Amino acid sequence: MPTSVLVEPAGPKYARYQEICEELHHLLSSEKNLVANAANTSALLFNRLPDINWAGFYLAEGRELVLGPFQGKPASTRIAFGKGVCGTAAIRGRTIVVPEVSKFPGHIVCDPTSQSEIVVPLLNWGRLVGVLDVDSASPKRFDADDQEGLESVAAVFLASLIEAGYPDLSEDAATAD
Ligand code: SME
Repeated sequence: MPTSVLVEPAGPKYARYQEICEELHHLLSSEKNLVANAANTSALLFNRLPDINWAGFYLAEGRELVLGPFQGKPASTRIAFGKGVCGTAAIRGRTIVVPEVSKFPGHIVCDPTSQSEIVVPLLNWGRLVGVLDVDSASPKRFDADDQEGLESVAAVFLASLIEAGYPDLSEDAATAD
């Protein structure tokens, strides 16, 4: 008797994120500079994802996040760990999906038109490199498919730097702390 395997059906956004990840891999594979790769990642997301108004990075520096490459309106430059959606995702080490930003205690307003947000922490050997933040002017814009897709995007971004031997992302550098 054949054994049946239960396969989760891919969500409706799966194909789009798969394309984005493939394009991103090609875009980043020949470059090892973190700023250049973060800039191209945010530009790709901003141009490929529908209904978003901000996409970019905050990079960890000491006990705070500092604004990195992004697309969208000018934003807060420094966010302490534990503050806002970004700082909360940073200390939890987990992705946060915010369906309505006005209901997230301590949400930091950058673009007042933003209604929903998703923040993915960038973790390398358990050490926080920064966060990937995407905002939308529509409420409830981000769901579990976006979480999975953007976590894959974050993984491609980090892998590009690790494969290129980016000095601060080696296992040795992470465990030296
Ligand atoms: N809303 C974020 C701040 C960054 S901007 O959205 C670009 C937060 O609460 O951490």
